[in-house]
Amino acid sequence: MSRPSILATHPLFPEARAILDAHCDVEYWSRPERPTRAEFLKQVAAKDGLVCLLTEKIDKDMLATAPKVRIVSNVAVGFDNVSVPDCTARKVAVTNTPGVLDETTADFAWTLLMCVARRVGEGEALARSGQWAGWNLDQLCGGDVWGKTLGVIGFGRIGRAVARRSLGFKMKVIYTDAVRATAEAERESAARFVDLDTLLSEADFVTVHVPLMPETRHLISAERLKKMKRTAYLINTARGPVVDNEALYQALKAGTIAGAALDVHEHEPAVHAGLITLQNVVLEPHLASASIETRTKMAVMAADNLTAFFAGRRPPNILNPEVLG
Ligand code: DGY
Repeated sequence: MSRPSILATHPLFPEARAILDAHCDVEYWSRPERPTRAEFLKQVAAKDGLVCLLTEKIDKDMLATAPKVRIVSNVAVGFDNVSVPDCTARKVAVTNTPGVLDETTADFAWTLLMCVARRVGEGEALARSGQWAGWNLDQLCGGDVWGKTLGVIGFGRIGRAVARRSLGFKMKVIYTDAVRATAEAERESAARFVDLDTLLSEADFVTVHVPLMPETRHLISAERLKKMKRTAYLINTARGPVVDNEALYQALKAGTIAGAALDVHEHEPAVHAGLITLQNVVLEPHLASASIETRTKMAVMAADNLTAFFAGRRPPNILNPEVLG
């Protein structure tokens, strides 16, 4: 077959480009800002395949605009930006990048946990402000982490990696998931399986690691926030819409919970206007997997998925293998 014509909606990293360029004719989006929807549709229209980021929506319209596309290689583990059923209906393969970002994402969940508990953002702002009047006994006191209870919602690879890190802090780990984990997975962090309500009422730190699906949209709702301890903190490094951001804002304002740290937001790239005004929330722009090593591995994995497909092999991370026939 002649070299497939590919759109990559990012310049990617040299390691990934080397793989793609060896096998395909690739047009790379190279401007620093993300393409608009219109620019994206125009560029993908005549392509045979696509390497895209989670900022591109892959839906019926996109697939109709680009009828030759045979594979969508998403550079992310989450694939809520891709309508897999619509792709499958058109026999378009979809791949993602699981596994390579688990530890980096878990590191960042812990970064957020520590920042919100120990008020790192407020402290940094004070130190830079020129207004610090000196040490004081009750200055910016936060909550302890050591010996507390960590509640993990979603005990997959990332949730378990977060739980493992808690051993160094002598924390108790409780978790909830659609299905109970294996005994071995529980043993790694001495984790106890509980239902969601129990987790919310017992945990000092609630950390969210579920994919975004219809069942998980607003999983953390106003009602569920009320079940948390007043001294508890919520950390979200999964997907923004899993937490009702308006309800969270109200809970933080009212002091129903002690604090929150969000890497992901309900309407990215917008950040909830109320949350921005609060001190007891740490806000980050979707950075959890953002180390050079990990983002490079994700891009390489996406390139491998796409080139395997065009070489007639099964892409290692195919989400809809039924299209392979
Ligand atoms: C993903 O991969 O789904 C993250 O949100 C970005 O690393």
